[in-house]
Amino acid sequence: MAELVSLTRQGAVAVITVNNPPVNALSPGVPEGIVECIEQVDADPAVRAAVLIGFGQTFIAGADIKEFGKITSGRKPRGDGLHPLLTRLENCSKPIVAAIHGTAFGGGLEVAMACHYRVAVLSAQVGQPEVKLGIIPGAGGTQRLPRLAGVAKAVEMCALGDPVRASDARDCGIVDAIVDGDGHDDLLRGAIEFSRQAGAKSGPPPKTRDRNEKLLDDGSHPAIFERARDMTARKRRGFLAPQKAIDAVEAATRLSFDDGLRREAELFRECLFSEQSKALIHAFFGERTVRKIPDVPLDTPLLDIRTAAVVGAGTMGGGITMAYLNAGIPVILQEASQPLLDRGLAAIRKNYERSVERGRLTRESAEQKMSMIRPALGYDGFNEADIVIEAVFESMELKKKVFAELDKAARPDAILASNTSTLDIDEIASMTRRPRQVVGHHFFSPANVMRLLEIVRGQQTSKTVLATSMALARRLRKVGVLVGNCRGFVGNRMFGPYRREAQFLVEEGASVREVDEALEDFGMAMGPLATGDLAGLDVGWRIRKEYRHLEPEGVRQPLLEDRLCELGRYGQKTQAGWYRYAEDRSRREDPEVEHIVEQVVERAKIPQRKISRDEIADRCIYALVNEGARILEEGYALRPVDIDIIYLNGYGFPAYRGGPMWHADTVGLRKVCERIREFEKQHGHWWKPAPLLEQLAAEGKTLAEWDQARSAKQSAQA
Ligand code: 3HC
Ligand code: NAI
Repeated sequence: MAELVSLTRQGAVAVITVNNPPVNALSPGVPEGIVECIEQVDADPAVRAAVLIGFGQTFIAGADIKEFGKITSGRKPRGDGLHPLLTRLENCSKPIVAAIHGTAFGGGLEVAMACHYRVAVLSAQVGQPEVKLGIIPGAGGTQRLPRLAGVAKAVEMCALGDPVRASDARDCGIVDAIVDGDGHDDLLRGAIEFSRQAGAKSGPPPKTRDRNEKLLDDGSHPAIFERARDMTARKRRGFLAPQKAIDAVEAATRLSFDDGLRREAELFRECLFSEQSKALIHAFFGERTVRKIPDVPLDTPLLDIRTAAVVGAGTMGGGITMAYLNAGIPVILQEASQPLLDRGLAAIRKNYERSVERGRLTRESAEQKMSMIRPALGYDGFNEADIVIEAVFESMELKKKVFAELDKAARPDAILASNTSTLDIDEIASMTRRPRQVVGHHFFSPANVMRLLEIVRGQQTSKTVLATSMALARRLRKVGVLVGNCRGFVGNRMFGPYRREAQFLVEEGASVREVDEALEDFGMAMGPLATGDLAGLDVGWRIRKEYRHLEPEGVRQPLLEDRLCELGRYGQKTQAGWYRYAEDRSRREDPEVEHIVEQVVERAKIPQRKISRDEIADRCIYALVNEGARILEEGYALRPVDIDIIYLNGYGFPAYRGGPMWHADTVGLRKVCERIREFEKQHGHWWKPAPLLEQLAAEGKTLAEWDQARSAKQSAQA
């Protein structure tokens, strides 16, 4: 089937099939193609009803997101858009049944809701995820959804953007019937049967726009909207679109259908032209771009990962084990002694029990996951593992010893991965006879929750191991990003300067609260000092001690965290760090810290001044950007977007700012560079602008343009 949309007949039922792989997006040509088919359905006296279905794995997953960039950059969009299609569907004289498998998202659900009926297989999902792209439903979703699902459900779906399973969709009225079986063929069979019955009914087919019963206010509407606004302010702090989505659904309850559509269109355009939407669309495509490694073809053969072994059942080893179990991969979990092994297993069990208590997991499935762990003290059974992930203490000596042992215990074709956060992967690999099989898998804490996985490429890591690691990341429901083997890799290498500036700011006169709040107002999930407390201040302290000899002489170093650690204030784990912590982990400012700061500052004779919130945010964020630019120049990250995806998924950078490098492009590199030069004048050494930033600022270019030009050159050379 080469056409985007095709029409066939099964008796008196017409079947309109959308075939626009991979996700049947409503790209130019698709809406027009469906309209043509509807014209034929209407005109053909032998047809009593029609089914609208997607070819392949899915119904329509939405508008074509690539088209939005064309609209916002002033280019004329191709095609007629969605509204003529929706009107044509709704006005068809014969019933049209949307047959849903896979996902009916965004414009896909909007098309389905403009049909007269909807059926779905049980595995299907529906949703209005537009807010995740910084926009709102723009093809009637905010007006038709409350008419089908009720106001409360529509508000929730449009404001949060989370998908809804087919069974819930049926219960709330979005879907009329669930069809037996799974996949395209079962669905088509069931949908045709449903259409035959619908076609036999007399009278015009029902239009969603006329179904106003669920819009009637029984007095609950004000509370529904207020709750939704509170919830999104909390759960989607800083995001514009969710609030606009609520406004649009509210319009459905106050205006006629056509006026509601007009209001939706106004709000949609406001969102589409916002910086937030551009940033979130960048993040959407970025998450898919990072899967592509230029010199590792997408069809590189993969190793089969059926069993994993994890060495070390501490904080990370436990979380990594859970990530594997959750993906259905059994784990051999090894520790240095029986008590430590028992402690590790107990921590995993406790985590699962908490999920059971919260209703997120059944007791049986928690038990089933626990039964997939094979505890081990030595290396018995390691020859069954397809991959081993080492998560012992961060010590080169220890890691080398463990890798030498693993090289003997694991099968020669098994992957040996280290979860080190700072150490040299090549040095670790040198202890084995299979450096091609050695790779870094840098998980983030808690490893069963955090989505980021930095995949560290050693000098000899093979393409098969890299491709397998990327595929494995998806299986573990992580975002795998390839990084080079430098100290701290990408994420932590940039986090160093960011946290250094946060400390300097406190030493120069900002309060702990001011620093954290400035970054939280910028949109970071948590301020830099509170983040230090969460991770444990002692971790960095130990690393600094190990690397102190590498730091340049006579250069200002942050003093405060070392002092806090000397006083035993390691952060949340000791209930005191930059803040004091209650049992429930809530933080409060601690006068003792003020006192410690005063002493340190007095001793070091650091002049004190009032520092603005803007300066605090700029100092920390531009420290990230400057180091990020160096990393790009040195080739330790493949593209600016790789850095962005790392920061969005591992460091709580606000998604609506697109990541640090995208943010810098948005602000303008000239402005960023000027600010960095000011900081260099004031603070010296640490603020030398990265040459790449200086060059692009001088040329008036963005990092994105630099990246495009570079990859065009590389493809031309290839
Ligand atoms: N437009 C354009 N391209 C899209 C797309 C879309 N709506 N959805 C997915 N793609 C592309 C991806 O970029 C990827 O391209 P690549 O292979 O070149 O990298 C390819 O399709 C496959 O996508 P995934 O890798 O994400 O495939 P999965 O099978 O993992 O997931 C999915 C499928 C759940 C449909 C997921 O792609 C998704 O969530 N897509 C976005 C859905 C969405 O947001 N829809 C709303 C769009 S906005 C809208 O409809 C506005 C309307 O109200 C007017
Ligand atoms: P941890 O101290 O909680 O756990 C380490 C575990 O390894 C301990 O249980 C210890 O008994 C065990 N171990 C030590 N030697 C062993 C051996 N020879 N055989 C088997 N087990 C042994 O440390 P954590 O935090 O889990 O860190 C582990 C690794 O993960 C380190 O390399 C660290 O840098 C890295 N990492 C840590 C992160 C964090 O936030 N804690 C984040 C990302 C990476």
